[in-house]
Amino acid sequence: MDRRKFVKQSCTACLAVSAGMVIGSLSSCATLPTYKAAMINHKVTVPVDLFANSNFQLIQPKGMYYNIGLRKEADGTYTALLLRCTHADNQLVASANGAGYTCNLHGSKFNQEGQVTNGPADRSLKRYPTQVESNQIIINIA
Ligand code: FES
Repeated sequence: MDRRKFVKQSCTACLAVSAGMVIGSLSSCATLPTYKAAMINHKVTVPVDLFANSNFQLIQPKGMYYNIGLRKEADGTYTALLLRCTHADNQLVASANGAGYTCNLHGSKFNQEGQVTNGPADRSLKRYPTQVESNQIIINIA
């Protein structure tokens, strides 16, 4: 193979790999709609109606850098997890149904309970207490 042909084939392969990586990262960004919620006195309030057709919702509290994954459990309670990777603080990406979370920085994975299923992270996600009052889910940010 001559030099010109080798360079041309190498560049084509590099472009194909790069395009695949960009498309892959874009598809992971385009996950779920995010509900923007106000935070008052360290409490985030979310309407129960958000869960009429789904058991999972991404919450973006105003003033917080990280999203919260809010999941409705079978017993009617709600689990709120801070989507901040415990390895090096990267924002996590939620799977479509909230069944798990992935960190695109170094590859850590967490299950729906926030427990590590793949390192390098070695600590579970921060969990916030929740309560339901008057058709509102209140997440206590402590
Ligand atoms: S910051 Fe998430 S795995 Fe490193």
